[in-house]
Amino acid sequence: MTAPLLSVRDLSKHYTSRGTKLTILQGISFDIGKGEVVGLVGESGSGKTTIGRSVLRLVEPSAGSVRFDGTELTGLSSSEMRRARPRMQYIFQDPFASLSPRMTIGEILTEGLKIQGIGTSKERLERARKALEQVDLPGDAVNRYAHEFSGGQRQRIGIARALTLAPEFIVADEPVSALDVSIQAQVINLLRDLQQRLGLTMLFISHDLAVVEYICDRVIVLYLGRIMEIAPSAELYAQPQHPYTRALLSAIPSPDPDAPRDRQILKGDIPSPANPPSGCVFRTRCPSALPACGEIVPDLRETTLGHFKACIRDDLD
Ligand SMILES: Nc1ncnc2c1ncn2[C@@H]1O[C@H](COP(=O)(O)OP(=O)(O)O)[C@@H](O)[C@H]1O
Ligand code: SF4
Ligand SMILES: [Mg+2]
Repeated sequence: MTAPLLSVRDLSKHYTSRGTKLTILQGISFDIGKGEVVGLVGESGSGKTTIGRSVLRLVEPSAGSVRFDGTELTGLSSSEMRRARPRMQYIFQDPFASLSPRMTIGEILTEGLKIQGIGTSKERLERARKALEQVDLPGDAVNRYAHEFSGGQRQRIGIARALTLAPEFIVADEPVSALDVSIQAQVINLLRDLQQRLGLTMLFISHDLAVVEYICDRVIVLYLGRIMEIAPSAELYAQPQHPYTRALLSAIPSPDPDAPRDRQILKGDIPSPANPPSGCVFRTRCPSALPACGEIVPDLRETTLGHFKACIRDDLD
């Protein structure tokens, strides 16, 4: 990995709901190198969005450190954070909800530049047109409204909005989950092209391991607010080490229906953050759980170079 652009250390997030403490994130640590694309996967409710938003301080972390290009973000005042923000952009899951129906695409795309006081209104509009062309939409879309576009086009507009500020780092939060399967590949390919062309660093969030495979250099697997496994993509898919990752992978339909599969279907739902299992939080659904798993909180340990897992069992390979 190149020098980290983003370093997250021991990030935690708690909420209190009706007197009960909810642990949404616990002990989250990872780095993202300059120009690297890191996937963040896990079932719905595992805390992916909370990580993405905490990194950009769209939610306040309860504890821990987030360093971006050497600057600690958690201590910045709101005006300092506003100055840092153009370098870091967020692409939202739902391209309909995130684009105002009352603003033209031009107004939506130039809003961030205006807040930052960048350029004249003519220059800002020119940047908006250029961003639209980068996502393969016509520049004259600036005069139209979001409802005039399809879901896939709206997500392209969401990406263009992030690009107008020329960011170095993007959090893409389930950017294709709201789209038809037929459109998903187009938008992922577009993101991959842009990432390579612009040298972007990216945290790519998805509940679906199949979606991140082709775009990510490394993948982080999250369960109930804890990291279960981190590995280079190729290795994670070929040799998953953690029982949770294995279960997620075995749920992906194979293109070859005759391929032998050792399917482990995840039973039940992810537990509530109000009442997490003791020891290993995955144990209530883990096919390999031992009595000791209820006693010991597994550390995230490096098993082979660059491959980390949080599981006490080493006899599962
Ligand atoms: N403001 C909040 N107050 C209380 N709980 C929250 C809040 N925001 C998120 N959560 C809870 O945090 C957990 C993780 O949510 P989220 O980060 O959205 O997960 P994901 O993106 O992986 O689906 C969920 O259990 C969710 O209900
Ligand atoms: S520590 Fe135990 S419960 Fe947790 S993943 Fe490993 S075997 Fe399963
Ligand atoms: Mg989410």
